[in-house]
Amino acid sequence: MTYSLRGRLLIGLVLMILGAGMATGAIIFRWAFDEAIEMQDRTLTRIAAVTLQTRFPTGKPISSGTDDKSGIVIEELGNRPDGSAGSQLLWPLKEGLHVATLDQHPWRILLRTRSDGSRIVVRQPTAARDGIARESAVYAILPFAAAMPFLMLVIALVVMQSLRPMVQLAEHLDARRSDDLKKLPLERTPRELHPFIDSINRLLDRVQVLLEQQRRFIADASHELRTPITALSLQAENLEQAELSEDGRKRLATLRDGARRTKWLVDQLLTLARYDIGHATAPVTTSLDRCAKDVVVDFLLDAVSHDVDLGFDRIEPIIVSGDSITLTTAIRNLVDNALRFTPRGGRVDISVFGNGANAVLEVRDTGPGIPPGDLDHIFEPFVRGSRPNGDGTGLGLSIVKRVAERLDGTVSLSNIDGSGTTGCRVVMTLPLAAPEASKS
Ligand SMILES: Nc1ncnc2c1ncn2[C@@H]1O[C@H](COP(=O)(O)OP(=O)(O)OP(=O)(O)O)[C@@H](O)[C@H]1O
Ligand SMILES: [Mg+2]
Repeated sequence: MTYSLRGRLLIGLVLMILGAGMATGAIIFRWAFDEAIEMQDRTLTRIAAVTLQTRFPTGKPISSGTDDKSGIVIEELGNRPDGSAGSQLLWPLKEGLHVATLDQHPWRILLRTRSDGSRIVVRQPTAARDGIARESAVYAILPFAAAMPFLMLVIALVVMQSLRPMVQLAEHLDARRSDDLKKLPLERTPRELHPFIDSINRLLDRVQVLLEQQRRFIADASHELRTPITALSLQAENLEQAELSEDGRKRLATLRDGARRTKWLVDQLLTLARYDIGHATAPVTTSLDRCAKDVVVDFLLDAVSHDVDLGFDRIEPIIVSGDSITLTTAIRNLVDNALRFTPRGGRVDISVFGNGANAVLEVRDTGPGIPPGDLDHIFEPFVRGSRPNGDGTGLGLSIVKRVAERLDGTVSLSNIDGSGTTGCRVVMTLPLAAPEASKS
């Protein structure tokens, strides 16, 4: 089961803040409510102290006049209870604060006695008192409640910001080239991620060692296979001179074909393995247009015999970093593909030109193009797609890709599809050699 750390943290923290906020809010509310009630008792006491100095007519309760909301009433009881129900109820009460029901409503009552024995009552309806207390309690918790959404927003931002290094680490790994097994840097990453990054780095080390072993094995095996296969091809060629029956010649042709294919496979494998092992070579510069011309010359006879117009669309003198063998191998593979897929009467156009700080090599053909479903994997080793043509190993385009990447360039392949024409366009982009380097 997968889950989101960010989601968990956010939900946990928000629930915690809500819980703590509600509990604190309830306590503040209670405290402010009780405080407001006490304050109103003190107000009753103060009013009683003032009214003790004055004598009011009995039986005529008067409003304290403080405000309508408080509902405070002052009542003169005189020196003895009269016949009214209020007087009957209030006279027996002791000096001080009480709660009693008058006219079927609960009242807070303060009874005070003057030195001459006359008594005075200051009273307030409990409902009004509670209303005032509730209102001031609500005002007390209002700023706190208003701060809650803001607090949650800040927490969400902090959580997202804190987890950003993890997302960045994943993006960094995803953006890497498939053969880039360099260690992940620890600098500018949170300490908590260091054990995780260390583990990934150890894993990358192990993968690097395994890959190196595998590449060496392929390089050694193809190197060792080269001599016996060359000998086999020579023997097959020698056999051509011998007298053979018709059937023998047919079988010999099959044998020669097999030997040729195997030699091509071994050569391609060896080329790929060499780039993979990546021997550091001294920095050299090469004329890209020269390499392209050499390849065209090599393939010209082949193109003529297949009735394909092989030539240049645009060619400029371009110098790039990289050795000529490497660049020629890449161009050779592209032209070989283009010629192989171009039908009789078609054309293969090559362009070499500069574009800003880059050199561009483009090979276009008038073949059927690559089925769109194959495009995503066509640069992987041994992939020949769903419409391969003739013999091949499926290593050509992977060699081109490795060459481009080793020289800090890129390669892309697209189909030409417009007004009745089809074809394939491969574009290899390489950085131009620095001017000083090109001079040397
Ligand atoms: N110009 C092209 N037009 C159409 N399909 C192509 C073209 N170039 C490559 N392909 C497709 O891509 C596949 C892979 O090409 P790649 O050069 O890697 O291998 P290959 O040509 O089959 O073998 P190798 O290059 O080792 O002889 C080809 O088999 C073919 O299906
Ligand atoms: Mg090829």
